[in-house]
Amino acid sequence: MSFLDNLEWRNATKEFDASKPVVQEDLDKILNAIKMAPTSFGLQSWHVYVVEDLETRKKMKEHSFGQAQVDTSAYLLVFCARTDAIERVDSMIDHLSGGDAAAKEKMKGMEDMLKGSMQKKSPEDVLCWATRQAYLALGFGMAAAAELKVDSCPMEGFVNPEIDKILNLPPHIKSTAYLALGNRLKDPEKPKFRFPDKDLFTHL
Ligand SMILES: Cc1cc2nc3c(=O)[nH]c(=O)nc-3n(C[C@H](O)[C@H](O)[C@H](O)COP(=O)(O)O)c2cc1C
Repeated sequence: MSFLDNLEWRNATKEFDASKPVVQEDLDKILNAIKMAPTSFGLQSWHVYVVEDLETRKKMKEHSFGQAQVDTSAYLLVFCARTDAIERVDSMIDHLSGGDAAAKEKMKGMEDMLKGSMQKKSPEDVLCWATRQAYLALGFGMAAAAELKVDSCPMEGFVNPEIDKILNLPPHIKSTAYLALGNRLKDPEKPKFRFPDKDLFTHL
């Protein structure tokens, strides 16, 4: 099956077969696809927690409307937005310059431009901006999972502040969405619903 066929095969899996694992090699490929997603200014303003520990996931389920994907999946990826935009710029420049003062100096223009752009945003806008990128990365991970015939479910049905507490997230990291990964317990009962193309696309 081609990549495009696999996108049709994938579905938002409601319950996974908890006895079937996702092999480490596939998890690594999915994480790599997430890493390859484009981000605004290349800042990668997200962080993903890969939650395998069942006890943690049982606690998370209590704040995820009891959804079965949380503790039947093999892994629950928690996509988080980073709100430490200025520090992220510093960190990127440190990495790119390899700590070399002259290389860092050459990046001063870029640093000022990036920080200026971040400083113009309100804290809410920074969160929203980082969240959009976390979702894009989630999409890459979900597409990669389909290519590997790993089932998945994107989810935002959970109480974010409670999940942040359970995961003990630092204040600049906010959970935004889950991507549950595993093996479907059964095929979906209903065909996919999609609006007609004319409702979704406009060709000009
Ligand atoms: C942002 C987002 C949040 C979602 N949250 C949930 C969720 O909490 N629980 C769930 O079962 N499905 C969730 N879904 C899955 C959608 O219901 C599903 O993608 C949609 O019905 C289309 O079905 P398909 O993905 O199988 O094509 C979510 C999807 C997205 C993109």
